[in-house]
Amino acid sequence: MAQVGIFVGTVYGNALLVAEEAEPLLVEQGHQVTIFEDPSLEDWLRYSNDVALVITSTTGQGDLPDSIAPLFHAIKDNLGYQPTLRYGVIALGDSSYDVFCGGGKQFDALLQEQSAQRIGDVLLVDATENPEPEEMTSPWVEQWAKQIS
Ligand SMILES: Cc1cc2nc3c(=O)[nH]c(=O)nc-3n(C[C@H](O)[C@H](O)[C@H](O)COP(=O)(O)O)c2cc1C
Repeated sequence: MAQVGIFVGTVYGNALLVAEEAEPLLVEQGHQVTIFEDPSLEDWLRYSNDVALVITSTTGQGDLPDSIAPLFHAIKDNLGYQPTLRYGVIALGDSSYDVFCGGGKQFDALLQEQSAQRIGDVLLVDATENPEPEEMTSPWVEQWAKQIS
């Protein structure tokens, strides 16, 4: 069983919906879960020895939404090495844009740079092919939940 913080970056609410669908699936497998909608560095640091699930969309031109960009910059500016953190990333985007899922990819690259341990592959969710993202994310979350035990 793990303590899991879900860190949400959203503009229109799709990523939050995915987070709200993920929570009970993780709880079912015995994990303790908290969703953070405007996550701070302090929230993030509570999980340094546990598990973070970043669920973020992409806005602008491959950018992170305003709800999670401050966390990204705080991690970049204040932390450097997070080897005891395990994490996963669900990246929402739309393949009709030039930088597909750029927000989630940026977050993953930062955590890789800081030696955090990614569990599973980054899940890329294309809005043009998945009008209901949870149909794709829920099976992924169920598998991921088994790997963090
Ligand atoms: C103004 C705008 C800009 C976007 N830019 C990108 C982008 O650069 N790359 C991408 O993959 N998706 C982009 N998207 C698609 C969104 O990431 C996608 O629709 C996502 O499902 C929205 O999730 P949210 O409701 O959680 O914000 C953009 C959408 C909008 C409306």
